[in-house]
Amino acid sequence: MTTSTAPTWFSSPAEAARRLDAVGYLTDTPTATTAYLAGALEKPLLLEGPAGVGKTELAKAVARATGAELIRLQCYEGLDEARALYEWNYKKQLLRIQATNADQDWEQTHDDIFTDEFLLTRPLLTAIRRSEPTVLLIDEVDKTDVEVEGLLLEILSDFQVTIPELGTVEAVRRPFVILTSNASRELSEAVKRRCLYLHIAYPEAARETEIVRSHVPEISDRLAGQLVAMIGRLRELELKKAPSIAESVDWARTLVALQIGKLDDAAVTRTLGVVLKHHSDHERAIRELKLAR
Ligand SMILES: Nc1ncnc2c1ncn2[C@@H]1O[C@H](COP(=O)(O)OP(=O)(O)OP(=O)(O)O)[C@@H](O)[C@H]1O
Ligand SMILES: [Mg+2]
Repeated sequence: MTTSTAPTWFSSPAEAARRLDAVGYLTDTPTATTAYLAGALEKPLLLEGPAGVGKTELAKAVARATGAELIRLQCYEGLDEARALYEWNYKKQLLRIQATNADQDWEQTHDDIFTDEFLLTRPLLTAIRRSEPTVLLIDEVDKTDVEVEGLLLEILSDFQVTIPELGTVEAVRRPFVILTSNASRELSEAVKRRCLYLHIAYPEAARETEIVRSHVPEISDRLAGQLVAMIGRLRELELKKAPSIAESVDWARTLVALQIGKLDDAAVTRTLGVVLKHHSDHERAIRELKLAR
């Protein structure tokens, strides 16, 4: 069995909130509770929610808060075992075979070249072989093909990887696993069953104002409040892409850079490109919020 863990992660939801806060990630109660549980139960955590609400950032914040190393597997269409798990270093194996003296039997050569020395480890395998605390971020898992989920199952449930030529590699120490998804497709039930689940939505205005202020301390409380209120109104419109926390923060930086002290119609229209990234969204916002051009 695995030799896990002294309380590497968080000792309570409140402590999780405090430590995440201290590294710049402001949580609400559900997020802090789930972050605590994922560590305490050693269960992978699946984060779902719209773009830019802080899914990836939560994984980074857990790593910062706990001093663990972050290992990231960025998912994309076409990601395969060789990129996600491990791959044999064929070139090196060939060189070894060429260098082997001719009378060595094949069995011996085979045993030589399928050893650790010839293994190229990719993020999943790297994460479970580490003896130091590790946060494994499997980012945007909905972007992969369904087959990759099959690959993940062994890791998510047993924290192990089977390499036919080497045998089963068990986790030396269980990583804190976070999977993120935009829900662009449903993940398999098999993956979901092995994870804790947290839906991250757009934050309440008060918390978003705090987030904005923590990223852009130069902005006044009042302006941050106005900005977040306007972001809230924009999110209520039927836009192609609603503004996220990332856009709120960018907007705050923009207003500071332009030395705009008050968010009136003119200021909004002038800087709308920071928050809305589709022409049709601009048109709609100007029309429906009756912004003067
Ligand atoms: N709770 C929070 N506290 C502090 N900053 C936050 C918080 N949530 C989000 N942010 C900020 O918002 C930005 C966007 O977050 P992040 O990149 O994690 O989004 P995401 O949910 O992973 O989006 P995507 O689905 O597009 O990858 C980050 O730069 C982060 O600093
Ligand atoms: Mg992300």
